[in-house]
Amino acid sequence: MSNILVTGGSGFIGSHIIDALKEENHNVYNMDVVKPNDATNYVNINLNDTGSIINFLKENSIEYVYHIAAIANARRSIEDVVETMDVNVKGTASLLLACSEANIKKVILASTVWVYNAVDKDYNKTGEKIYLDESANIKPECGGHFYTTSKLVSEFLCQDFRSLKKLNFTILRYGIPYGPRMWKGLVLRSFTENALTQKPLNIVGDGSAKRRFVHIKDLARAHVMSLSEKADNQIFNLEGSSDTTIKELADLVSKYIPGTEINYITDETRKGELSVDNSEITNSKAKKILGWEPTISIEEGVEGYVNYFKKLSS
Ligand SMILES: NC(=O)c1ccc[n+]([C@@H]2O[C@H](COP(=O)([O-])OP(=O)(O)OC[C@H]3O[C@@H](n4cnc5c(N)ncnc54)[C@H](O)[C@@H]3O)[C@@H](O)[C@H]2O)c1
Repeated sequence: MSNILVTGGSGFIGSHIIDALKEENHNVYNMDVVKPNDATNYVNINLNDTGSIINFLKENSIEYVYHIAAIANARRSIEDVVETMDVNVKGTASLLLACSEANIKKVILASTVWVYNAVDKDYNKTGEKIYLDESANIKPECGGHFYTTSKLVSEFLCQDFRSLKKLNFTILRYGIPYGPRMWKGLVLRSFTENALTQKPLNIVGDGSAKRRFVHIKDLARAHVMSLSEKADNQIFNLEGSSDTTIKELADLVSKYIPGTEINYITDETRKGELSVDNSEITNSKAKKILGWEPTISIEEGVEGYVNYFKKLSS
């Protein structure tokens, strides 16, 4: 049993990580600026308050830190780039500094497969399918999004704190997480909410964009596994198991909520979002080193989510 701090534990992903860690009998604290419904072991400290974080880590003999707090909504990062960098970049620097001062054994960072947008797009000119793994070369000029940049810099900071201050890290690059407690704006949540209120499901573009949705329970399990020393100073992709197009996702929701209408729309605020046509972001490293692979199929996960949401709104 370890003493663990999760930043952003009041949010969608952080709250599931806390649940998974508690199931393994760890003593878990949540540091967030928003008070959660269950405020057990909750502390209200802003990421940028380095001094208070150091005191908290020392006073509670924290051994591991999951750094999950961030501005996670990519569209918000376009509306407010300065605030995004303040939280995602400066906040990460502040947290990592506090962790190195408090001799934390390891920081586990929430990152995203969006960083693969920053791989040179010439890679798939041949038309052959390319497998993108954690060693893919990142080119700053290809990233094309403030959110992607903020996550890349968070990753670079972990690497720098490792080489300059000997602070261990594990970086987890998530696919598209989904499941209970998702925030408004995540695609499955908005499809389900619209379908249940007899509004059309709005698909941006022609619906052919593919994603690998990863169920939040699978994702949370990978976080627990990442405590292992085998994961020290490593990066892992945590993608869902199969490609699902946005149209297929809408059809799945319609299967569980019949009578749903589908609309195709354009949305200029979606520029620069993940696009990895002709390629697959592979989980093979997570499988080989951590023994992790997703177990919940998209069909099972969507059905479970629709049932959860129906119950919540009844
Ligand atoms: N949701 C996704 O689709 C997705 C995909 C890939 C990666 N991620 C990453 O996963 C992490 C969690 O995402 P989420 O979807 O759970 O987001 P979320 O918005 O539900 O949770 C983020 C939490 O961070 C807290 N927070 C924000 N600023 C803070 C600050 N200055 N100090 C302390 N706490 C602060 C918020 O109050 C919130 O509770 C983020 O790092 C995000 O970039 C999310």
